[in-house]
Amino acid sequence: MSSQDTPEENLPAEPPHGTDAEIAPSDALVPDPGLPPHLPRRQDIDERAAKRSERAVAGLFTLSMLATIGFIAGFVAIDVDKIIYVWPIGHISALNFTLGCTLGIALFAIGAGAVHWARTLMSDEEVVDERHPIEAPPEVRQRVIQDFRKGAGESQFGRRKLIRNTMFGALALVPLSGVVLLRDLGPLPGDKLRHTLWAKGKLLINQNTNEPMKPSDITVGSLTFAKPDGLEETAEDFQEQIAKAALMIVRLEPEDIKDKRELEWGHEGIVAFSKICTHVGCPISLYEQQTHHVLCPCHQSTFDLADGARVIFGPAGHALPQLRISVNSDGYLEALGDFTEPVGPSFWERG
Ligand code: FES
Repeated sequence: MSSQDTPEENLPAEPPHGTDAEIAPSDALVPDPGLPPHLPRRQDIDERAAKRSERAVAGLFTLSMLATIGFIAGFVAIDVDKIIYVWPIGHISALNFTLGCTLGIALFAIGAGAVHWARTLMSDEEVVDERHPIEAPPEVRQRVIQDFRKGAGESQFGRRKLIRNTMFGALALVPLSGVVLLRDLGPLPGDKLRHTLWAKGKLLINQNTNEPMKPSDITVGSLTFAKPDGLEETAEDFQEQIAKAALMIVRLEPEDIKDKRELEWGHEGIVAFSKICTHVGCPISLYEQQTHHVLCPCHQSTFDLADGARVIFGPAGHALPQLRISVNSDGYLEALGDFTEPVGPSFWERG
């Protein structure tokens, strides 16, 4: 303290008149207002109103069951390619629209039924639960069990059999939606991926120009896509067929090719591989000419075209199938047969 300090200067400053500090000192106790008096609801005193609520809840659970049945029926009956107009969304898949609506209604109706049940029929008395140590002593656990039994009784779960049974029905049916969707995992491809339109003597048609290809059309470093002769884009099954037969053709320097069979199955360094990724079937499109690697844009599987198109990175399970090619008497590139192994994704029937 300096010699000029006075006792008044060391006291805390008094709060100005009218501030909170003056009106409510920090140690003042606020009385607990307690819970407001409990007012019975209409359903508590009028059994007819309770019955109406019961029917409303049962109606919502029943609606959920019907929506789930509608979901399954829609999944089975609606053509996956069917398009409908829905205002204001526009043109959308009829199947997606139906599945979305019915599943949404099924889940909403269960939720709405449960909320309505709780608001109108279950006990609405407010209960104060004082804070207590986290580890409950045995007598508290006993009390919780008793409270649970009491709550179960007050919810009228046993008495309102209509609600209980329809709720069980709705809860039992809703998971069926997920089970039905498992069907989309199948059926297994069987032998569908074992055969493509490639056959002995089929010309390789450039997919851009629609012209048969000659070896001189293919330069080192370029990547060309080809389809089998006779497969027209106007054909009804074009997408299905090209998804299996799509071919990519590159010309490598013969001395760069490490795999002996690859060299034999090509023509003067021109080699042809399936364009369909062996992971889950995306079309491969990125070619790095310096390394001879092709990259699948979906999950980055990378294949080395100079080494039998083996997988050098990514989730693909096996090398890209190679098509055996040659040049016919007119000088055009042709296939010498179909692929000798299934094209496309890995599946457990490949053998
Ligand atoms: S589909 Fe090609 S990496 Fe997944």
